[in-house]
Amino acid sequence: MSAFRTIEWDKGIVRMLDQRRLPHETVYNDYIKPTEVAQAIREMVIRGAPALGAAAGYGMALVPYHTTSENIQIVRQELEEAAEVLRKARPTAVNLAWGVERLLKRLADPALDNLEALKAAALEEAIAIAEEDVRTNKSIGLSALPLIPDQATIIHHCNTGALAAVDYGTALGVIRTAHENGKQILVLVDETRPRLQGARLTAWELQQYGIPFKVIVDGASGHYMRTMGVDLCVVGCDRVAANGDTANKIGTYNLAVVARENGVPFYVAAPTSTIDMNTPTGDEIEIEERPAHEVTHVGETQITPDATAVGNPAFDVTPARYISAVITERGVAYPPFKKSLARLMG
Ligand code: MRU
Repeated sequence: MSAFRTIEWDKGIVRMLDQRRLPHETVYNDYIKPTEVAQAIREMVIRGAPALGAAAGYGMALVPYHTTSENIQIVRQELEEAAEVLRKARPTAVNLAWGVERLLKRLADPALDNLEALKAAALEEAIAIAEEDVRTNKSIGLSALPLIPDQATIIHHCNTGALAAVDYGTALGVIRTAHENGKQILVLVDETRPRLQGARLTAWELQQYGIPFKVIVDGASGHYMRTMGVDLCVVGCDRVAANGDTANKIGTYNLAVVARENGVPFYVAAPTSTIDMNTPTGDEIEIEERPAHEVTHVGETQITPDATAVGNPAFDVTPARYISAVITERGVAYPPFKKSLARLMG
C-alpha cells in the first residue's frame, strides 16, 4: 500500500488528495455533492483514468446518502442527474462513464425499493470499484513481469501510479512490480507538459518507492533512446479502442513514433475497464481541450506574450501499429489487436 490514498469514503464524505498541490503540500479536500466531485474532476484535484472510475462510483454514492427525499422515484431521478453531470466532467477517459454506468446498473435493481437499500447498494458498488482497482493494478504488474529485462531503462509518460488510481497504478505499477521483484530499474520520467504530471507526481511517487529515476523534458526521450539505450517505454491510457488505437496524455503519440524509429518496445498498461469495445477506432475518441492558461502559464507566472493563441489538447491517439502490446490484468494482448482484445474481453 502507498502511504497516501487518492480517494476514499468517510461516512458520507468523499475525500480526495488534492493533486494540484503536490509535491509540496499534502492536502485533502472533502466533497458531499456529485456536482462538487464533477468540479474536482474538471479541475484535476483527482485525475488518471482508474481514479476517475472510482470518483464516479463515490460521486454517485453521495446521492442516496444525502438526498432529502424518501420517494424512491425522486432519488432515482437525482441519480440520473448526477450521472449526467459526472459523465460530462471529462470526456476522454472511458473509466468515468464506465463507473457511472456501473452504479446506475446496480441501482436499477427493482428490489432496491427503499432508501436504506439504495444507500447500502450504492456504497457497496463504489467500494467494490475502488478495491477491484487495487487488485487489478497488481495483476497488471504481474502480467508485465516477463516483458521487463532484469536491468532496464524505462521511459514513462505522465503519471500512472497510485495517484492515478486508487492505489498501486498501471504503467507505474508495472515499474513498481519489476522493482519489487528485484529488477534493476532506471526510469526516465517525461516531465509531461503542460501540467507536469511526470515532474510533480511521478517523481514524488518514485522517490517514496525508492526507485531510481531522472526527470527529463518531453523532447529529450528521442535523444536518450538514440544515445543511451532505452529498453522499453510503458504508458497508461484513458481509452483503448477495439482496434488497439490508444488515447493517452498528450505527447504519447510522439513518444511511440520515436520508440518505433529506435526499435524500442512500446507497451500500454491498462485495466480492462479502460478498453472500450464500443469505440471501433481512435478516430471516434473525443479529445478533451483544456484551458489556455495551462500552456501560457507555469504556476502563476505567464510565459507567453499577452493574448497568445493556444492549442491545448489533453490527450492524443497513438495508432495501434506503434503499440507492441497492451498489458492488462487478464494477460497481455499482442497485435493484431482487433482479435487479441476481442478474445481478452470475450
Ligand atoms: O490528464 P490526466 O492527468 O488525467 O491524464 C492521465 C493520463 O493520461 C494517464 O496516462 C492515464 O489516465 C492512465 S492513468 C493510470
